[in-house]
Parts: sequence; C-alpha cells; structure tokens
Amino acid sequence: MAAGSAAPVSLSVVALLCVAVGGVGAGYFAEEKTTAESAFLRPKVLIAILARNTGHTLPYYLSCIEKLDYPKDRIALWAATDHNLDNTTAVLREWLQNVQYLYHYVEWRPMEEPKFYNDEVGPKHWTNSRFTHVMKLRESAMKTARDKWAEYILFVDSDNFLTNDQTLNLMIAENLTLVAPMLESRSLYSNFWCGMTPQGYYKRTPDYVPIREWKRLGCYPVPMIHSTFLIDLRREATNHLAFYPPHSDYTWAFDDIIVFAFSAREAGIQMYICNWEHYGYLSVPLKAQQTLEEEIESFNHVLIEAMIDRPAMEPSKFVSVPPKHPDKMEFDEIFLINLKRRQDRRDRMLRTLEAQEIDVKVVDAVDGKALNTSHLKALNIEMLPGYQDPYSGRILTRGEIGCFLSHYYIWKEMVDRDLKQSLVLEDDVRFEPQFRKKIMKLMADVEDNQLDWDLIYIGRKRMQVERPEKSVPGVKNLVEADYSYWTLGYIISLQGSKKLLAAEPFGKMLPVDEFLPIMYNKHPVKNYMEFYKPRDLKAFSAEPLLVFPTHYTGEEGYFSDTETSTIWDNTNVPTDWNRKHSRKTREQGEISTEAQNTDALHPPPPIDTAFRDEL
Ligand SMILES: *[C@@H]1O[C@H](CO)[C@@H](O)[C@H](O)[C@H]1NC(C)=O
Ligand SMILES: *[C@@H]1O[C@H](CO)[C@@H](O)[C@H](O)[C@H]1NC(C)=O
Ligand SMILES: *[C@@H]1O[C@H](CO)[C@@H](O)[C@H](O)[C@H]1NC(C)=O
Repeated sequence: MAAGSAAPVSLSVVALLCVAVGGVGAGYFAEEKTTAESAFLRPKVLIAILARNTGHTLPYYLSCIEKLDYPKDRIALWAATDHNLDNTTAVLREWLQNVQYLYHYVEWRPMEEPKFYNDEVGPKHWTNSRFTHVMKLRESAMKTARDKWAEYILFVDSDNFLTNDQTLNLMIAENLTLVAPMLESRSLYSNFWCGMTPQGYYKRTPDYVPIREWKRLGCYPVPMIHSTFLIDLRREATNHLAFYPPHSDYTWAFDDIIVFAFSAREAGIQMYICNWEHYGYLSVPLKAQQTLEEEIESFNHVLIEAMIDRPAMEPSKFVSVPPKHPDKMEFDEIFLINLKRRQDRRDRMLRTLEAQEIDVKVVDAVDGKALNTSHLKALNIEMLPGYQDPYSGRILTRGEIGCFLSHYYIWKEMVDRDLKQSLVLEDDVRFEPQFRKKIMKLMADVEDNQLDWDLIYIGRKRMQVERPEKSVPGVKNLVEADYSYWTLGYIISLQGSKKLLAAEPFGKMLPVDEFLPIMYNKHPVKNYMEFYKPRDLKAFSAEPLLVFPTHYTGEEGYFSDTETSTIWDNTNVPTDWNRKHSRKTREQGEISTEAQNTDALHPPPPIDTAFRDEL
C-alpha cells in the first residue's frame, strides 16, 4: 500500500523536472524521443449480401462494395443467394473467389435449388415463404456478426449502389445504433419512411419530400429504414433486435422490413435516415407480375441516369461482365452530334447508349466558335431578314449557325448514302425508361400503318400549348407536331431530308429549331414562313416524349453551346447574356389539362395500392 501510494508522487516529481529541463514533448529521459500513440484499428464490420436474380446488377453492386474506403482486413463478408433463375450464383461465387484473400473472413451460402418459390407468380412476387426465407437469412447474417464479435453489421441489398465510397465511414461516424444513408431512385422512392400507420403500413407525411429532395439536410429519426442500413452491435439494445422470428406481440403485415421495424421499436432503438451527402442509388421495386427482363431495364435506367451528374458506375474487375451487342434498332443510321471539345458529353452519351445496346455514328458538330466571317461568306450564309430571337431579341449566334450546319450535313449524308430512315440525337439528352423498346414499338406501329412521315420528334419543347395536337389514327403515342422547339432527338426519313435540303436554308438562315416548324407550316411568324416554299414537311411527335434535355437553363450543370456563343458576324460581342433571359431552353411549363395530348396515350394503369409501391 505504502509503495503504491508513494509511486505517483515520485513520478510526478520526475515529470515536473522533465518539463523544466527538456520542455514540452521531450521524453522520460531527455535524450530519448517518444513516439505518439498509434490510432485505433477501424471497427470490425460484417457486410451482409443477400442476392437473388441480380446477375445484372452484381458487377456494379460489388464494385461499390469493393470501393468502400475502409480497410478490407477489418471487413467480413457474408453472402447468400438462392431461388435464382439467372446467373447470380456464378457471378457472386466468381467475385468471392477473387476477393476473399483481401477480406478478413468470407461466409458463402449458395442454394442452387429450387430456382423459384412454388407459390409465387413470378420472380418479383413477395410471397410469405419468400419473406420468411429472407428474414431467416438476415437473422443468420446477424448471428454470424455477433459470433465473430463484429462491431457493426452493414446490410446492403444487391440492387442498392453505394457510389459514395465514404458511406461506411460516414455512417459509423454518426454514432447511432440503427442508421441508413438515404439513397436516390428515379422516383420519390427511397430506403426510408417518415410515417407509419398504427397498423404498421406506410404513411405519407409532409416531411418526406423535403428530406428525399435534400431540401433539409441531417440525420432524422424515422419509423422505417430498409434495404441499406448499419447496426452498431456494441450497443446493448441490439441484443434484442431480431429479423426472425417476428416478435411475439407482432400482428402487422408479414413483411421483412415491417417485422424488423417492429423489433427495433420493441427493443427501444430509434431508426435514423441521413442525407448529409449523396450516398448512392437504389432501384424502384417492381410489381409482383413484372419480369426479370423489366427489372434489367429498370436497372439500366438507374445506371444511365446516375451518369448525368456524377461519374459513371464501373463494373467490378473481379467478375466477368457479359458483352453487350449494340445495334442500330432497325434504323439505317443513328447519328450522335457532338462537339469535339465536349468530350465529357460524348463519353457519357456513348456509355449511355452502350448500356442500351444502341450503336451510333458520332458526327463532329460544326463548332460555332471556329466559324468566322470568311467561312460564312464561302457557304453563302445569310440571316433570314428580320429574324430576331423571340425572347432576347438578339440575332443568330455562331453557335446556332454551327448547330444548323451540323444537322444540315446529316440530312445531306442521308441523301448521299440513300439512308431510308435515321435517328438523330444531340449529346445532352436523357432517355426515358425502356427507351429502346418504346422507340422500336413506335416505329413498328408507324410501319404497320404505312404512315407517310418525314420527321418524328422524340424530344422537343411544345410551343403551341393552347389545345391538344391531333393524334394519329392507328398509331399509339404519336401526334401531328404543332409549333415546337429543340432538336435534341428526332427520326428523319430520306424524303424528309430531301425536302429540308431543297429548301436551301443557307441564304435565309434562322435557328434550326425555328426552321423545322416553318417547314411543316406551323411557325407562328408569317413573315418568316414566306421565305420558304413549299412547307410540306410531314412532322409528328412521340407522345409522351422519349428523350429530354439533361439540364435546363437555370439548373446547375446547364451549359449550352449554341446559346452562349458570340453573334455570328462580330466576335467581339459575346452573347452570354443572363441565363434567366434564355427562355428558349427552360423546362417545359405545365401544360393545361385541356391542351394535353391525351388521345395519343394509353389508358393509365389501374392504381396499385400496395404499400411498397406508394412512392
Ligand atoms: C455466368 O457467370 C459466370 C461468372 O461470372 C460466367 O463465367 C458465365 O459466362 C456466366 N454465364 C452466363 C450464361 O452468363
Ligand atoms: C457515441 O454515443 C455514446 C452515447 O450513445 C457516447 O457515450 C459516446 O461518447 C459517443 N461517441 C462519440 C465518438 O461521439
Ligand atoms: C477564318 O478561318 C480560317 C481558318 O479556319 C482562316 O484561314 C481565315 O483567314 C479566317 N478568316 C478571317 C476573316 O479571320
């Protein structure tokens, strides 16, 4: 006792002496340097992977898991797969074989047979036997995590993509028992609910949308998180968490996520959703009757939408990705107009098209910036007398001339190569889900009805919004085009190209998206129309449209090469005017009910009220 109490005293005396002699930071003995204490090892995490019929998403999903910025020797992988009609087992096995040596521990639970549940209508159907199986799997992953003394378990569904490589670190740093990173989908759907009915069903609340749209940032207590979430197993209360069997008081719907939310509630654990950052994406769940093929299309859309404002997702290098087989979708040619100096756009479009197995010919756009007066003289280009931009009052810009020439040379190539029908795309478009299927169906209907057509817009801004446009008898999803802007996507026939060339537009030029409505006799300015004869282009438009601009004026990321270049004959006058005045490229306003082209549409599908589809 005496020795024990004496020691600290003498130590502190020595310490004081050291401070006096060696100053701050010197060692116990003045001649020795001390080494700082090392940091802690990162907490041990088990990642649970449950995959079913996700052979198409796995290469991207697994690549996100691989790229998480976290020491792999502190991660255990637990992977299960079953009831697969597709190649999921082989893909997951290949990946695990290739990466297992990197990770602390791997547990692999494949089940080759049966390939489906006997009571299901299709692979997207959630039957009670499927719910039970998934709950048991999750419970078993949690048991492994507890047995291995993992400090955290991270569940990530195999169609959720954690593109933010800091997600795991950020969720751990929140220091919460049960927390999820908010994931983005193409609809309002996400991996949390803000409200729950007394029966445990989804409830819409005013808080949901502002959180989902990042209008409010933070970590919010919510009654439900699912699909991707982290559990801090160091917390005592998690001993009472269970995915299976359901809590003895459980009377709500038999559904894995609701059963788990109830368990958390009974264990006294609050669920949190965080949206400080963008963490990744998830697919919107399909309905029971939908097919794997539809799911693949839905995933492809997630993939291509994700490329618009963020770096493209790359498949894992540790799995073999089946090759794509792009084709021209029965067009004679598909032209992609791209300015050479906009390589970012070219790359994105080529990836986007490749994902949809669409083969294009890239044509170098005529760069307005490189055009000078002598070029224009050589081509005999003259402005249409009296032309003024309807919004800004300015005349033609060199960017607009470049744009006109780019389209013109494509019409010319069509005639030179005798191409019967082509698709023309600009490089700043986003595609509707199932674009490929929809455009091919439209063209098949047009063909079956032997429609006489020259041009079909697949993306445009409707300018005549007083009344509906005429639908085309026999062809669903097509209307006769009235006054419209933009040329971001259209289908053109050989006959159409010939008509546009025959109009000899160089000597009386105006923007190409004003020229087209003149040629089908729907331009509201009669003075412009008089310069062109005949105006007999047969123009139609897909309804609903199949492509849209990636960005509109005023939006972040917006940059137009045509609207922000200099006026054609005076390079000293920049026309990079205030974007707010550039109304032409603003988003289409809401079209009143009376003016909508409802005749051309399919009847809307009956409303499905299942809670999973609420958003
Ligand atoms: C299934 O996946 C494995 C591993 O990735 C691959 O080698 C095989 O070619 C795939 N089979 C099919 C039919 O896609
Ligand atoms: C984490 O939360 C616990 C209480 O729940 C607290 O005691 C601890 O200090 C927190 N850790 C950090 C790093 O904030
Ligand atoms: C226009 O550009 C060409 C090269 O592209 C050049 O030869 C010509 O001199 C230029 N003309 C004027 C007026 O700058």
